[in-house]
Amino acid sequence: MSASQLIIFDTTLRDGEQSPGASMTKDEKLRIARQLERLKVDVIEAGFAAASQGDFEAVKAIAEAIRDSTVCSLARANDRDISRAAEALKGAARSRIHTFIATSELHMEKKLRMTREQVLEQAIQAVRFARNLTDDIEFSPEDGYRSDPVFLAQVVEAVIREGARTINIPDTVGYAIPELYGSFIKELRERVPNSDQAIWSVHCHNDLGMAVANSLAGVKIGGARQVECTINGLGERAGNCSLEEVVMAVKTRRDYFGLDVRVDPSQIVPASRMVSQTTGFVVQPNKAVVGANAFAHASGIHQDGVLKARDTYEIMRAEDVGWAANKIVLGKLSGRNAFKQRLQELGVQLASEAEVNAAFQRFKDLADRKAEIFDEDILALVMDESAGS
Ligand code: KIV
Ligand code: ZN
Repeated sequence: MSASQLIIFDTTLRDGEQSPGASMTKDEKLRIARQLERLKVDVIEAGFAAASQGDFEAVKAIAEAIRDSTVCSLARANDRDISRAAEALKGAARSRIHTFIATSELHMEKKLRMTREQVLEQAIQAVRFARNLTDDIEFSPEDGYRSDPVFLAQVVEAVIREGARTINIPDTVGYAIPELYGSFIKELRERVPNSDQAIWSVHCHNDLGMAVANSLAGVKIGGARQVECTINGLGERAGNCSLEEVVMAVKTRRDYFGLDVRVDPSQIVPASRMVSQTTGFVVQPNKAVVGANAFAHASGIHQDGVLKARDTYEIMRAEDVGWAANKIVLGKLSGRNAFKQRLQELGVQLASEAEVNAAFQRFKDLADRKAEIFDEDILALVMDESAGS
């Protein structure tokens, strides 16, 4: 893996599924995993094998079906979970065990009821045990961002020594701020003497709406080279970092990030649709990249600009991310140019500019009464025009 490669780790099927109401059957997960493989994500976190027999079966089926992405299972830091993960992943071409334990004072004291020493020891034992089963081990200190950096560095140094090859620092509760999260990762890497023996990863939740910004800061400021994300930002509470936004930010602003991603962007919209249809979670129209309005232009000035040169108001192409085309939405803000263009697309030829002007006037009158004008409305308008002339 080159230093300029950003690894895309998709956790739609694990953390995404933790979203209330988003649970998926084995067959649905398998279908989405195949789409994620077409999308060319580097790692698919297929589930949490020890969580239930259903999850075990789903991870197993995905491991057996997927050849071109690494398949991963989550496991708590104990032998039973890790063994179940390894068992489910047996048929994979490439597999990863992702083990975790919480390291923040709050989680250790109130949830785990364990001391720092016990957590450190359990993390070490878990990675040592996993090391007998696979070479590819990821370790996550849950609630890492709210952990004491001195203790966290001690845990991370120890698990790298035991063989963890990816260190993921979750902002489990979406509490981070971009600059602070980026600096946190950077300082942590500086504190850990063997930090260069692992790939550093970011995993951000969206409780304050900053999961994507935080992840990108973790990459840019912190030097992380793996981003954990989900399609449509699906995930518990306000969701996870959204895959389509991170990928398109890195691709569109390659001048700033200087990183490559393996993802095929033309598969983004099909993946978004599939996840939305499968879970029943509707994508908001103004969602970046995959929302229905992400490439729609409604105002006359914008429409005129886009018709003359698309990059006046488009920083990426709708077609590049899997849409059929961008959209000129005709309504009360539209100008004569956009109207004329739509007439042409509909194959309507009016006899004179005067007729176009008259039809445009009718269109404006209608648009004052109706939010969106459809092609059928325009055809009717033109018939009115012919009838009136
Ligand atoms: O948010 C989180 O802390 C997680 C870990 C299990 C990686 O999802
Ligand atoms: Zn998470």
